[in-house]
Amino acid sequence: MAKESKIRTPIVCVMGHVDHGKTSLLDRIRGSSVVSTEAGAITQHIGATLVPIDAIVRMSGALSKVNVNVPGLLFIDTPGHHAFTTLRARGGALADMAIVVVDINEGFRPQTIEALQILRNYRTPFVIAANKIDRIHGWRVNEGQPFLKTFAQQNERVQGMLETKVYELVGKLSELGFNSERFDRVSDFARNICIVPISALTGEGVPDILMVLIGLAQRYMTESLRVSADGPGAGTVLEVKEERGLGMTLDVILYDGTLKVGDEIVVAGNDQIIETKVRSLLQPRPMKEILIEERFERVKSITAAAGIKVAAPKLEGVIAGSPLRVIRGGNRDEVVEQVRHEIQDIQVNLSDIGVIIRADTIGALEALSKELEGHQIQVMRAAVGPVTRHDVIEAGTIKDPLYSAIIAFNTPVLPDAIDMLADASMSHVSIFEGGVIYQLIDDYVEWREEKKQ
Ligand code: GTP
Ligand code: MG
Repeated sequence: MAKESKIRTPIVCVMGHVDHGKTSLLDRIRGSSVVSTEAGAITQHIGATLVPIDAIVRMSGALSKVNVNVPGLLFIDTPGHHAFTTLRARGGALADMAIVVVDINEGFRPQTIEALQILRNYRTPFVIAANKIDRIHGWRVNEGQPFLKTFAQQNERVQGMLETKVYELVGKLSELGFNSERFDRVSDFARNICIVPISALTGEGVPDILMVLIGLAQRYMTESLRVSADGPGAGTVLEVKEERGLGMTLDVILYDGTLKVGDEIVVAGNDQIIETKVRSLLQPRPMKEILIEERFERVKSITAAAGIKVAAPKLEGVIAGSPLRVIRGGNRDEVVEQVRHEIQDIQVNLSDIGVIIRADTIGALEALSKELEGHQIQVMRAAVGPVTRHDVIEAGTIKDPLYSAIIAFNTPVLPDAIDMLADASMSHVSIFEGGVIYQLIDDYVEWREEKKQ
């Protein structure tokens, strides 16, 4: 039997600084959909929103469906202090594309810059959503209109102000090594990053951003999106969560193949590979359901790209960012080896002497270690999860006091670690905590310089 091949839905990460409008943009896209019973309706997934091409065509108007062969877009919202784009899939980034949302009135902030650095490291195509144009003084709202239409209806002063703000973004992007332009002036998507002025609140420019994303997917990634629809499922674990009545569960973004109830799966724990069997697959129900037990709908199988909650035995200890693979046919050893390999790949270059690093996901750990490497800061140990007492003790015994430091990215410090740190014998140890990598590095470097004196 020939394997059916199809173009899967591209995965789009929505990134940007806190409060710049990521969730509002997704809400706007969801809110514009017509009744949810009709075919092609937007659906809510675990950790993601699936917008089928019909809905995008309806919203953007200008697109001719005939020329489009991507089935839609799967958007992943990343909360302010999370960089899900650092999650990997088969050695690359999980996201096929990204939207970097920036408040046009505030410009780039630390997390915007961090998002851009991550996208550059992974060579992920992206567009800039220059959000909150409705806040430009004197802006006249034209609800839901394409950008050029609403722009033409603004007075000269307002137009000039928008242009100035867009050029400030162009300038900032250029400092970071990216060529960019307002999207309607871009003729070559491969050379220039598109800046789309939008308002997530009024919907102005939202049709354009959808169009640009489809254009990017169409032109630059159609072949990489080709998957075998009935092949064994492959995904990335976003979160490991305990759910009432379900026990430990995994929130997974499936980017290839099909995942079924009863499938044997392989995932990675902190220090071992875990094999288990899918007990149930769960999709969120519409918001109106209130009973916890009824929050999810059980499905028998799901095909990429999709977000799904997986319940199974033995999930304790699975790490966020872990690959998830389905065993099908007699390929157990091969699959286990693949997962082991992917985890090892991510592992950071370790030295005999160096700092200890911690992060909330494997991808985040990797992003942190890459940046440290760039700053020639050696790492002695790297692990996913909160900072433990043991980490503090270990940092305390490092021979070179300039490395008696723990860098914790997006992850808390456990109370007994804090107690240990207060111990007189550990007074030379420091912990650097935060959600922005380069700030953590700056803080560490500053501390080290002070110690040297
Ligand atoms: P985090 O998830 O916390 O990182 O924030 P976010 O990027 O998801 O921002 P969110 O969508 O929650 O928006 C933050 C605030 O900005 C909210 O009060 C929104 O109502 C407001 N906001 C977002 N987009 C717009 C816009 O286009 N215009 C105006 N005027 N306000 C906006
Ligand atoms: Mg948000």
